Amino acid sequence: MADVRVICAIGRSGQLGLDGGMPWEGRPERAFLEDVERFFEITRGHVLIAGPRTIASFPDFAREHRTLVEIRSSDQPEEVLSRFPDRVVYVGGGPAVWDVYARFVRHWDINTLPYDGEADTWFDPAWLLAAGTRRQPPG
Ligand SMILES: NC(=O)c1ccc[n+]([C@@H]2O[C@H](COP(=O)([O-])OP(=O)(O)OC[C@H]3O[C@@H](n4cnc5c(N)ncnc54)[C@H](OP(=O)(O)O)[C@@H]3O)[C@@H](O)[C@H]2O)c1
Repeated sequence: MADVRVICAIGRSGQLGLDGGMPWEGRPERAFLEDVERFFEITRGHVLIAGPRTIASFPDFAREHRTLVEIRSSDQPEEVLSRFPDRVVYVGGGPAVWDVYARFVRHWDINTLPYDGEADTWFDPAWLLAAGTRRQPPG
Protein backbone atom coordinates (compact mmCIF):
# COMPACT_ATOMS: atom_id res chain seq x y z
CA MET A 1 0.00 0.00 0.00
CA ALA A 2 1.21 3.50 -0.79
CA ASP A 3 2.49 5.80 1.97
CA VAL A 4 -0.21 8.49 1.63
CA ARG A 5 0.61 12.05 2.66
CA VAL A 6 -0.58 15.62 2.26
CA ILE A 7 1.44 18.79 1.97
CA CYS A 8 -0.52 22.03 1.94
CA ALA A 9 -0.35 25.65 3.00
CA ILE A 10 -3.06 27.58 4.80
CA GLY A 11 -3.62 31.15 5.96
CA ARG A 12 -3.99 32.02 9.64
CA SER A 13 -7.72 31.15 9.56
CA GLY A 14 -7.40 28.09 7.33
CA GLN A 15 -7.60 29.88 3.96
CA LEU A 16 -6.67 27.49 1.11
CA GLY A 17 -7.74 29.00 -2.21
CA LEU A 18 -9.14 32.04 -3.99
CA ASP A 19 -10.39 32.30 -7.59
CA GLY A 20 -8.77 28.97 -8.48
CA GLY A 21 -5.32 29.89 -7.14
CA MET A 22 -3.57 30.33 -3.82
CA PRO A 23 -5.06 33.34 -1.93
CA TRP A 24 -1.54 34.78 -1.44
CA GLU A 25 -0.43 34.25 -5.05
CA GLY A 26 2.15 36.84 -6.13
CA ARG A 27 3.07 37.88 -2.59
CA PRO A 28 6.85 38.48 -2.62
CA GLU A 29 7.62 37.93 1.08
CA ARG A 30 10.05 35.21 2.05
CA ALA A 31 7.46 32.99 3.83
CA PHE A 32 5.43 32.58 0.62
CA LEU A 33 8.42 31.95 -1.64
CA GLU A 34 9.92 29.46 0.81
CA ASP A 35 6.62 27.61 0.97
CA VAL A 36 6.62 27.02 -2.79
CA GLU A 37 10.28 25.92 -2.75
CA ARG A 38 9.61 23.55 0.11
CA PHE A 39 6.59 22.06 -1.68
CA PHE A 40 8.68 21.17 -4.74
CA GLU A 41 11.58 19.89 -2.62
CA ILE A 42 9.41 17.59 -0.51
CA THR A 43 7.31 16.18 -3.36
CA ARG A 44 10.35 15.59 -5.60
CA GLY A 45 10.57 11.99 -6.80
CA HIS A 46 7.13 11.13 -5.46
CA VAL A 47 3.62 10.71 -6.82
CA LEU A 48 1.27 13.69 -6.60
CA ILE A 49 -2.44 13.05 -7.19
CA ALA A 50 -4.86 15.98 -7.41
CA GLY A 51 -8.05 17.26 -8.99
CA PRO A 52 -8.00 18.82 -12.46
CA ARG A 53 -7.75 22.46 -11.34
CA THR A 54 -4.91 21.79 -8.91
CA ILE A 55 -2.99 19.74 -11.51
CA ALA A 56 -3.50 22.53 -14.09
CA SER A 57 -2.04 25.06 -11.67
CA PHE A 58 1.41 23.35 -11.65
CA PRO A 59 4.13 24.84 -13.87
CA ASP A 60 5.67 22.60 -16.55
CA PHE A 61 8.91 22.08 -14.60
CA ALA A 62 6.85 20.37 -11.85
CA ARG A 63 6.20 17.46 -14.23
CA GLU A 64 9.89 16.63 -14.61
CA HIS A 65 10.75 15.36 -11.16
CA ARG A 66 7.49 13.94 -9.87
CA THR A 67 4.66 11.76 -11.17
CA LEU A 68 1.59 14.00 -11.52
CA VAL A 69 -1.71 12.15 -11.76
CA GLU A 70 -5.06 13.84 -12.35
CA ILE A 71 -7.83 12.13 -10.41
CA ARG A 72 -11.57 12.40 -11.09
CA SER A 73 -14.61 11.82 -8.92
CA SER A 74 -15.38 8.74 -11.02
CA ASP A 75 -12.13 7.08 -9.78
CA GLN A 76 -12.16 4.69 -6.82
CA PRO A 77 -9.65 5.97 -4.23
CA GLU A 78 -8.56 2.43 -3.31
CA GLU A 79 -7.89 1.64 -6.98
CA VAL A 80 -5.96 4.90 -7.51
CA LEU A 81 -3.75 4.28 -4.47
CA SER A 82 -3.21 0.62 -5.35
CA ARG A 83 -1.46 1.76 -8.57
CA PHE A 84 1.48 2.99 -6.46
CA PRO A 85 2.50 0.29 -3.97
CA ASP A 86 5.72 1.19 -2.15
CA ARG A 87 5.61 4.81 -3.34
CA VAL A 88 5.01 7.99 -1.35
CA VAL A 89 1.78 9.48 -2.72
CA TYR A 90 0.97 13.11 -1.94
CA VAL A 91 -2.73 14.00 -2.17
CA GLY A 92 -2.67 17.55 -3.52
CA GLY A 93 -6.35 18.47 -3.08
CA GLY A 94 -8.49 20.47 -3.58
CA PRO A 95 -11.02 20.15 -0.79
CA ALA A 96 -13.39 17.74 -2.59
CA VAL A 97 -10.43 15.39 -3.04
CA TRP A 98 -9.30 15.66 0.60
CA ASP A 99 -12.92 14.96 1.69
CA VAL A 100 -12.56 11.53 0.11
CA TYR A 101 -8.83 10.73 0.46
CA ALA A 102 -8.23 12.08 4.00
CA ARG A 103 -9.05 8.72 5.53
CA PHE A 104 -6.00 7.17 3.82
CA VAL A 105 -3.57 9.91 4.94
CA ARG A 106 -1.01 9.10 7.60
CA HIS A 107 1.10 12.25 7.52
CA TRP A 108 -0.11 15.86 7.21
CA ASP A 109 2.42 18.61 6.49
CA ILE A 110 0.62 21.94 6.94
CA ASN A 111 2.45 25.23 6.64
CA THR A 112 0.56 28.13 8.24
CA LEU A 113 1.42 31.29 6.32
CA PRO A 114 1.14 34.89 7.58
CA TYR A 115 -2.02 35.57 5.51
CA ASP A 116 -5.20 37.11 6.93
CA GLY A 117 -7.05 37.99 3.71
CA GLU A 118 -10.03 36.56 1.89
CA ALA A 119 -10.53 33.07 0.46
CA ASP A 120 -13.22 30.97 -1.18
CA THR A 121 -11.74 27.61 -0.21
CA TRP A 122 -10.97 26.55 3.37
CA PHE A 123 -9.09 23.84 5.24
CA ASP A 124 -11.39 21.48 7.17
CA PRO A 125 -9.77 20.26 10.43
CA ALA A 126 -12.03 17.17 10.33
CA TRP A 127 -9.72 15.82 7.59
CA LEU A 128 -7.01 15.31 10.24
CA LEU A 129 -9.18 12.81 12.13
CA ALA A 130 -10.60 11.01 9.10
CA ALA A 131 -8.11 8.12 9.36
CA GLY A 132 -10.10 6.97 12.39
CA THR A 133 -13.18 6.48 10.18
CA ARG A 134 -11.39 4.19 7.73
CA ARG A 135 -12.82 0.71 7.43
CA GLN A 136 -10.31 -1.92 8.51
CA PRO A 137 -9.76 -4.80 6.11
CA PRO A 138 -11.44 -8.01 7.31
CA GLY A 139 -9.35 -10.35 9.45
N1 LIG B 1 -3.31 26.01 -0.20
C1 LIG B 1 -3.06 24.80 -0.70
O1 LIG B 1 -2.15 24.10 -0.24
C2 LIG B 1 -3.91 24.29 -1.81
C3 LIG B 1 -3.75 22.98 -2.30
C4 LIG B 1 -4.59 22.53 -3.32
C5 LIG B 1 -5.55 23.37 -3.84
N2 LIG B 1 -5.67 24.64 -3.35
C6 LIG B 1 -6.66 25.56 -3.88
O2 LIG B 1 -7.92 24.92 -3.97
C7 LIG B 1 -8.59 25.42 -5.14
C8 LIG B 1 -8.79 24.30 -6.18
O3 LIG B 1 -9.43 23.28 -5.62
P1 LIG B 1 -10.75 22.71 -6.25
O4 LIG B 1 -11.31 21.76 -5.25
O5 LIG B 1 -11.59 23.82 -6.76
O6 LIG B 1 -10.28 21.97 -7.58
P2 LIG B 1 -9.59 20.61 -7.99
O7 LIG B 1 -8.14 20.64 -7.71
O8 LIG B 1 -9.95 20.40 -9.42
O9 LIG B 1 -10.23 19.44 -7.10
C9 LIG B 1 -11.61 19.17 -7.12
C10 LIG B 1 -11.99 18.23 -8.27
O10 LIG B 1 -11.32 17.01 -8.10
C11 LIG B 1 -12.05 15.99 -8.75
N3 LIG B 1 -12.06 14.77 -7.91
C12 LIG B 1 -11.17 13.76 -8.04
N4 LIG B 1 -11.42 12.77 -7.20
C13 LIG B 1 -12.51 13.13 -6.51
C14 LIG B 1 -13.28 12.47 -5.51
N5 LIG B 1 -12.98 11.22 -5.10
N6 LIG B 1 -14.36 13.11 -5.01
C15 LIG B 1 -14.68 14.33 -5.45
N7 LIG B 1 -14.00 15.01 -6.42
C16 LIG B 1 -12.91 14.41 -6.94
C17 LIG B 1 -13.46 16.55 -9.00
O11 LIG B 1 -13.58 16.75 -10.41
P3 LIG B 1 -14.58 15.85 -11.31
O12 LIG B 1 -15.85 15.71 -10.54
O13 LIG B 1 -14.70 16.68 -12.55
O14 LIG B 1 -13.89 14.55 -11.53
C18 LIG B 1 -13.46 17.88 -8.27
O15 LIG B 1 -14.17 18.88 -8.92
C19 LIG B 1 -7.71 26.45 -5.78
O16 LIG B 1 -8.02 27.74 -5.32
C20 LIG B 1 -6.34 25.99 -5.30
O17 LIG B 1 -5.39 27.01 -5.35
C21 LIG B 1 -4.88 25.10 -2.36
